[in-house]
Amino acid sequence: QKVNELRARQHHEEEISSLPMHEGWRYLPLRLYKGFWFPEIILPGVLSLRHHLRPTSSDTFLVSFPKSGTTWLKALAFAINTRNPDLLLSRHPQDCSPTLEGFFAGPNVPDLDALPSPRLLSTHIPYSVLPKSVHDSPCRIIYLCREPKDTLVSSYHFFGRIDRPEAAPQPMPFLEVVELFCMGLSMYGPIWEHQLEYWQVSQSQPDKVLFLKYEDMKADPEANVRRMAEFMGRPFSAEEEMNGMVGEIVRLCSFEKLSRLEVNKVGVRGKAFGFAVKNSSFFRNGKVGDWREHLTKEMAKKLDDITRARLYQSGLTY
Ligand code: A3P
Repeated sequence: QKVNELRARQHHEEEISSLPMHEGWRYLPLRLYKGFWFPEIILPGVLSLRHHLRPTSSDTFLVSFPKSGTTWLKALAFAINTRNPDLLLSRHPQDCSPTLEGFFAGPNVPDLDALPSPRLLSTHIPYSVLPKSVHDSPCRIIYLCREPKDTLVSSYHFFGRIDRPEAAPQPMPFLEVVELFCMGLSMYGPIWEHQLEYWQVSQSQPDKVLFLKYEDMKADPEANVRRMAEFMGRPFSAEEEMNGMVGEIVRLCSFEKLSRLEVNKVGVRGKAFGFAVKNSSFFRNGKVGDWREHLTKEMAKKLDDITRARLYQSGLTY
């Protein structure tokens, strides 16, 4: 077993090193795998989980393009699952559900059976790259989509906050980052194809993928929490509704509340991958339309033109 696992790892390493490479945003190189640019350090985990992941029918996958509000989605799904949002007072939302590609990147295959059931499993992997076991399983997927310009701005700021080793190159100027993002060169990019894949499955198999938008969630969080709970097979009872459970979950998972909690303000994570991210980096300002403060008119037009062309006749709009 162990020998087979070692052989598989070696095979994966060879496969990864043969993939087209790009320096990324001058740190954390990217590799093109099945049409998407993955962080090189994450690919062993992606390949391993494609091989090993066995979903169960009660699993809920929480999926997003990075910086689309994953932290919020994790907190909400966790609160819905446990019906105990107070647990978030002492737990970072990122610790409420494992990010699978990170979980599988270590030397041993992780034991997902040890997670409490029903399991919440997170990933940024595009639909077409998920293992067939996920496509074929009756498990559910909640996808959180965010408008590309805001996602780009959020990514740029997050990337700038990574604690780099001294020898690492300085962050790339924003202008260059925008150019690369437009070409699909960002972690898990291109964003348009990432969103479109999940959008299309949500249209053809609404029981499989619930497609949520960050902007809609901000506009009406309670309605979207109810949608999530129903989709997860955990609708709120009349009694819970009466007791204000939905409002309580929304309040505890709000940006204002979570970003001020001590557990989310101190500490770092991600050291195992050679870069450290402050727990507080997952909370910036949580605004819709913040791109207006950062993008020039030309940049915004370029991104909007690409979005219009890529999403043409798909039915997906922001
Ligand atoms: P901004 O950088 O635009 O503020 P992810 O969780 O996928 O890494 O995405 C991070 C983005 O979600 C950041 O956006 C962050 O501020 C925002 N965010 C984090 N927690 C949130 C919450 N509870 N409600 C709304 N947005 C939140």
